[in-house]
Amino acid sequence: ITAAVSALAVTLSAGAALAACDEGEIVIKFSHVTNTDKHPKGIAASLLQERVNEEMNGKACMEVFPNSTLYNDDQVLEAMLQGDVQLAAPSLSKFEKFTKQFRIFDLPFMFKNMEAVDAFQSSNAGQAMLGSMERRGLKGLGFWHNGLKQFSANKPLVMPDDAKGLKFRVQPSDVLVAQMEALGASPQPMAFSEVYGALQTGVVDGQENTWSNIYGQKFFEVQDGITETNHGVLDYMVVTSIDWWESLDEDVRTQLATIFDEVTAERNAAIAQVDADNRQAILDAGAEIRELTEEQRAAWVEAMKPVWDQFEGDVGTENIEAAQSINM
Ligand code: LMR
Repeated sequence: ITAAVSALAVTLSAGAALAACDEGEIVIKFSHVTNTDKHPKGIAASLLQERVNEEMNGKACMEVFPNSTLYNDDQVLEAMLQGDVQLAAPSLSKFEKFTKQFRIFDLPFMFKNMEAVDAFQSSNAGQAMLGSMERRGLKGLGFWHNGLKQFSANKPLVMPDDAKGLKFRVQPSDVLVAQMEALGASPQPMAFSEVYGALQTGVVDGQENTWSNIYGQKFFEVQDGITETNHGVLDYMVVTSIDWWESLDEDVRTQLATIFDEVTAERNAAIAQVDADNRQAILDAGAEIRELTEEQRAAWVEAMKPVWDQFEGDVGTENIEAAQSINM
């Protein structure tokens, strides 16, 4: 990229995408569904783009397409296998239909905090999951953090019974469907880009997501408040197509992998701050955040934890035990 063209691209797109690629450069399209500004995935993807375009100039050129502008998560992996996009970072819930082990991440109250999630992902069991999509032609490059999920609805949620009979948007995941059924609620799987409209028009009453997603999508504007349940994790696996990855010259692949690993380490280490900033931004916007007492939280655990039994066979007892020992 010449300096003039890249300056123009940055001006036009505020760093979001559309870096002009020079002839001969390998074009790396990265499609994702969240906002860029202040969002864990948005920030990491932008940093990756910036570093690749600077350090691999002349060899490779990355274009990031955020906000579902290119693909939704249910289309992106197919597009990747067709060669239309080279990188994506769907949430771990979106992989459970391919590889049932991923269900461990959706089981409610499996991980105490993001340190536990990080330690599990770094363990042998977690690292093996990066290779678990290989027979489908996909390779996991690493995990990116977002955070723990909170519930919100168009009425106050304090006790689990408050969710009874309400319709909740969930990510397409059998575990999340079972989780909402355990609460006596009606789960509605739906693409991320449709959630704000569905909450606004009353197609659904509530949702579950992280502080960064609730702030980034402005869900708080169309909800009564947010209940701080920290009941589950929403993280990402960054994936690429094996065919494409192996088509790269070894020096290009190694340099890209090194930049990727450095960006991953840097941004994952910063997750607590990004999460806290988004929580604070929701408060600053005037929305109500309801904190639970120990007894109230215990009632949510009691209502939702039975879901583990339904999926223990898919996830593996040894993985549940490994995750639980990390929580100690
Ligand atoms: C969702 O669908 O709610 C999330 O997976 C979106 C995202 O990428 O954080």
